[in-house]
Amino acid sequence: MTELLPSLIPRPVVFEVIGDPFPEPETIDIVATDLSAEIADYLRGELVSRAGLSARVVDDASQPTGYRLALTVDSDSDMADEGYLLNLLPSGGQLIGATAAGLFRGVQTLLQLLTPRDVVAVAGIPSIRIEDWPAFSWRGMHLDVGRHFFPIENIKTYLDLLAAHKMSVFHWHLTEDQGWRIQIKAYPKLTEVGGWRDDGQGGKYGGYYTQAEIREVVRYASERYITVMPEIEMPGHARAALAAYPEYSCRQIPLTVPGEWGIFEDVFCVGSDDTFAFLSTVLGEVAELFPFELIHVGGDECPQTRWLDHDWCRARVSEAGLSDPRQLQSYFMRRVADILGDCGRRLVGWDEILEGGLPDNAVVMSWRGVQGGIDAVRAGHDVIMSPTSHCYFDYYQAEAGEPKAFNALLPLEKVYEFQPVPDGLTSDEARHVLGGQGNVWTEYMPNWSQVEYMVLPRMCALAETLWSPGQGRAFHDFRNRLPRHCQRLRDMKVNFREPDSR
Ligand code: ACM
Repeated sequence: MTELLPSLIPRPVVFEVIGDPFPEPETIDIVATDLSAEIADYLRGELVSRAGLSARVVDDASQPTGYRLALTVDSDSDMADEGYLLNLLPSGGQLIGATAAGLFRGVQTLLQLLTPRDVVAVAGIPSIRIEDWPAFSWRGMHLDVGRHFFPIENIKTYLDLLAAHKMSVFHWHLTEDQGWRIQIKAYPKLTEVGGWRDDGQGGKYGGYYTQAEIREVVRYASERYITVMPEIEMPGHARAALAAYPEYSCRQIPLTVPGEWGIFEDVFCVGSDDTFAFLSTVLGEVAELFPFELIHVGGDECPQTRWLDHDWCRARVSEAGLSDPRQLQSYFMRRVADILGDCGRRLVGWDEILEGGLPDNAVVMSWRGVQGGIDAVRAGHDVIMSPTSHCYFDYYQAEAGEPKAFNALLPLEKVYEFQPVPDGLTSDEARHVLGGQGNVWTEYMPNWSQVEYMVLPRMCALAETLWSPGQGRAFHDFRNRLPRHCQRLRDMKVNFREPDSR
C-alpha cells in the first residue's frame, strides 16, 4: 500500500492517510452540481477510458448505485486559486475545488490514485485526505510546430499530457523560419507559400492549422483549464513569412522557406510602415482566435545586418530619435506592443527584448539564463523563467546512446533542480516571477513519438518544480515515484524515455 501513496506527480502539498485502503468499487456515482457538471463529465469519460471503471454522473437527489464521489466548486473557500481538497473514505469521497480549475486539478490527482490499474487491483483505494495548491500560476510547456509540423490530434495529446501533470499554459510557437503554421485570412500566402519547404528529396514538407482547427485546440485546452498563448515570431525567425511576402523584408527579393536550421539575416524590415500595417492585420486575426491576454511575439536571435545596410531602416533611426541603430529592435517591439495594446493584449517576448528598453507592460520570458528575468523583475515586469540550463527539452537526456538532439545535455535530475525564483530577489520582486516553462524546439523531432520521448519524463520533473517546490522535495523521492508514474504513461499509450536504473 505504501508503494501506491507516494506515486503522485506532482507531489501534493498535504497528504494524510486516514484509514485502511478499501476495495475498488464496481461503479462510481459522480455527484455533480451546476458548477461541476462539465468536469464531472470529463472525469466520467477518463474513469471509463483510462481506469476501466464504470461511472455515471448523478445529482444529489439520486438513489446511490455505487461509490458516491461528490464534486463541488466552493467559491467562498479561502483556498488558493487552483487549490483543492480531496477526501476519500470507504463511505464516499469528496473533491472540492476553490475554482473550477482547482476542481479539475484535483480530478487529475484522483485519476492518478486510480491508476495504474495493476496497483489498484492489488491494493484498492487509499483512504486519504489531500490538501493541495500550486506554488506558481504559470506552469508552461512550449511546442515549436515550425521546424516540424504536428496535426491537431498530436496537439490534443500534448494538452492531455499537460493536463495530467497539472500544467496551466500551452505556449504554441506557430511561426518559424522553416514554416508558418497559422491560417491568416487576409494573407493566404503565409500558409500557401510559407507553410511548405523543400523536403530535400524532391517533395514538399509542411502543413498548417486552419482557423477552425485553432479554435478547436483553444476549446479543448480550456476544457482542461489550460491557457493557450500563441507565438508569432518577429522581427527575426520570419523567413517563411518573407518567402510569402518579400515586400516586408529590407531587400525585397524572392526568398525560399529554408529547410536547414539556424539564424537567418533576412528579417522584417523596421524601416517600412507597411511592415507594421501587415503585422497589425496578422496580430488582429491572431487576437480574434486566442482569448488570452498575452501574445508572444518572439524577439530573439534577430540579426541587424539587413537593417544597418538599408536606407529606410537607417532613416528610421533619426526619424524615431534613436541614439543608436541598435535601438531599432526595441523600437520594433514598442510598435508591436502598441498594436497589441490596441487589441487589448500585452506583449510577451524572449529576453532579448530587454536590449534597448522594454515596452511598458511587456512580459519577459528569460531563456538565456535567469539574468534577463532578474533585470526585468527589477524593472517591474512580469517574468516567466525558462532558462536553457533547466528547461530546454530539445537537449540530450543522457551523455550517450540517445537519438540525435540539440548538442547540449539536460538530464532529468537537472530539471528537478530548477528553481523559478532565483536567489537574491526580494519577496516583492519574486511575486513578478509568474512561474516557469519547458521549451520544446523540434529541429531534431521529426515525428510525434520523438516529441513525447524528449518531453517525458522531464516534464514530470518540471511539473513538480512548479506545483510543489516546497521544503522536503528531493530527487530520490521523485525518482521512487517515477516507475508507477511511467506505468500511467504506458496506459496513456505515450512514448517516454525510460528513467535510468538506479
Ligand atoms: C530561443 O530558444 N531562441 C528562445
